[in-house]
Amino acid sequence: MAMASNEHKIDHLDQPIPPPAAPDAGSGGVVPPARRRDTYALACRALTLLLIALGVVALLLWLVYQPSSLKAYADSAQLTRFDLAGDNNGARLRFDLTVGVSIRNPNRRQAVLYRRLEAVALYGGERLGRAADLPRMRQPRKSTVEVRTGFRGEGAAAVSPAAAALFRREKEEGFFGIGVKLHARVRLKVAVVDSVEYRPDVDCYIRVPDPSNTTAVAQGFTPTQCHVDDFS
Ligand SMILES: *[C@@H]1O[C@H](CO)[C@@H](O)[C@H](O)[C@H]1NC(C)=O
Repeated sequence: MAMASNEHKIDHLDQPIPPPAAPDAGSGGVVPPARRRDTYALACRALTLLLIALGVVALLLWLVYQPSSLKAYADSAQLTRFDLAGDNNGARLRFDLTVGVSIRNPNRRQAVLYRRLEAVALYGGERLGRAADLPRMRQPRKSTVEVRTGFRGEGAAAVSPAAAALFRREKEEGFFGIGVKLHARVRLKVAVVDSVEYRPDVDCYIRVPDPSNTTAVAQGFTPTQCHVDDFS
C-alpha cells in the first residue's frame, strides 16, 4: 500500500508543477484552481444540457407543427400563338403563352418566404423557355398568391422530330399539353425563426386550347391542380 502511494507521489512530481494561481484582485477570496476548473466543467455541462434541451424542444415543435405542403393550381392559361415553322429537319416552335398559377399556403403557423421562383415551360419533353425570375415575396399564413408568368419565343432551337409529331397530333385534337414548372426556393418562418431552405417544385401539366381552333378556344381552359413537393 505504502509503496503504491509513494509511486503515485513520484508520478506527480514528474509532471510540470502548475504555476501558483495569481491571487484574485478585488474579490479578496482566492478561489483554488481546482475549484475554478470544476465550475468551468459544470458550466460546460450545463450549457451542453441546455443545447440538447433546446434541440429536443425544437424537434418536438417541428413534429407537432409539421408544415403541410403548398397547394397549387394552374387556373388560367392562354396561348396567343403556338405554331410550328419549318420542315421536319428544322422545325421550330413559335409560342406566346401566359399562365396564372395560384399557390396556397395552408399552414396556420408558417409564413413562406420565396427566395427564388423560376418558371420554365416544356413541350414534348423539351424546354420551351424560361420566364424571368419572379420577384421575391413573403406569403402570409393561410393565404393564396397568384403567380403570373409569360413565355414567348421564336424557337431558337429546332424541336425534335418527336416533339414535332406531338405538335401535329395535338393540333388535330385542338389542345396542346404543356408542362409548366416553378422551381422555388423557400424558407418557412414561424414567429422570428427561419427554417432551412426547401426546394418544393411546382409541377403543372396543362392542356391549352389551340388559338387557331375556334371550337377549342370556345371550350376553353380547364383549371388543373399541380403537383407540389413536400417540405422534407
Ligand atoms: C379543333 O378542336 C376540336 C376539339 O375542341 C377538335 O375536335 C378539332 O379536330 C379541331 N379542329 C381542327 C381543324 O384541328
